Amino acid sequence: MLEQLKDLHTQALEELNKVENPRELELWRIRHLGKKGSLTKVLRSLAALPLEERRKKGAQANEIKKSLESSLEEKEKSLQEPLFTSPMHPQGLDVTLPGRPIPAGRLHPTTQILNEICDIFRNMGFQVVEGPDVEWDYYNFEALNIPQHHPARDMFATMWIDTGMGGKARLLRTHTSPMQIRLMEKERPPIRTIVPGRIYRYEATDSTHESIFYQVEGLAVDKGITMGDLKGTLFDFCHCLFGEERKVRFRCDYFPFVEPGVEVAIGCSACQGAGCRLCSHSGWLEILGAGMVHPDVLARVNIDPKIYSGFAFGLGVERIAMLRYGIDHIRLFYSNDLRFLKQF
Ligand code: PHE
Repeated sequence: MLEQLKDLHTQALEELNKVENPRELELWRIRHLGKKGSLTKVLRSLAALPLEERRKKGAQANEIKKSLESSLEEKEKSLQEPLFTSPMHPQGLDVTLPGRPIPAGRLHPTTQILNEICDIFRNMGFQVVEGPDVEWDYYNFEALNIPQHHPARDMFATMWIDTGMGGKARLLRTHTSPMQIRLMEKERPPIRTIVPGRIYRYEATDSTHESIFYQVEGLAVDKGITMGDLKGTLFDFCHCLFGEERKVRFRCDYFPFVEPGVEVAIGCSACQGAGCRLCSHSGWLEILGAGMVHPDVLARVNIDPKIYSGFAFGLGVERIAMLRYGIDHIRLFYSNDLRFLKQF
C-alpha cells in the first residue's frame, strides 16, 4: 500500500509537469484530487484496514494530498506569471515594449474640402444631391442654352462616349450644371440644392488645370430670388471658408444658361495679391462661375419665369483646396504621392 501511494505521488507530479494551461490543470486536479480522484479513492479504501495500519497510511496519504495541493497552487501561479508579472519571460508578453503603430488612413484633401463646402451650404439650408458622371448631350448642353454648333461648346473641351443624334449623344459631363435641369425637371420651387461631383475636360493640364476635377453646383429657385441673394450667399460662403478678412471679387462673366452671369475670384493666398504663378500674376484666383438662371432654361422645364426666378453657381473644389492649403500645383491632387497626401 505504501508503495502504491508513492507511485501515485510521483505519477501525479510527472503529469503536473507536463501541464501547459489552466484547462489542463483543472483536468489534472479532477483526476487526482477530485471526488473520484486517484488519491481520494485510496483514502476511502483506508476504512477497511485495521486501526494501527489505518493511522500510519492515513497520515502518509494526507501528506501526499497536502503536497499535491501545494504543487497545484504553485503551478497555477506559474501559469499566470508570464502574461502579467514576468515581462521578460520567453513565452510571455513583454508589457514594457512600446506599441506597434497602426498606420491610419485619412481623407484626401479634396474630400476634406468637399465635406467642408457641403457643410457650409447645408447650414444655409441647401440639400445635397448627386448626379451621373455619364450624361446626355441634352442635359450637359442643349437644355442649358447650348445647342449644336453653339460657340459656347468651345468653353468645354468634351470627352465623348458616343455620338447619337442631337441631344442623344453621350459624354462625360463637363460641368455639374446638367444637374440644374435634372433637379428642376423633378421638383417644383422652392428649390435649394447643391450637387458635388466629378467632372471631365479634354484639356492639357497645367498648374491650375486638370482634366478630371470636382465641382459643386448650387441652385436656388423660388419667387422673388434676386442677384442680391446670389451675392449674399456667395460672399457668406467665401467668408466662412477663408475668413472675414479675405478679399472677394464679383464681376461680369458669360455663361449661356445664366443672365446676368458673374465670376467670383478671391485674393491669391500664395502671393497676398502681389502676383505669382498660381494666380497668373493677377493677384486673383477665380473659384466659381454663377448667375441668375436664364428665363429660357426655366421655361424649358415648365417653371414660369414670370413667376419664379433663381440663381445658380458652380465652384471648383481643387481651386479652393489650393487656396486653402497654399498648394501651387493642381496635379498634386491626383499624383497619389504619399509625401504630399500625408500632410493633410
Ligand atoms: N458650369 C459652369 C462652368 O463649369 C459654372 C457655372 C455654374 C456658371 C452655374 C454659372 C452658373 O464653368
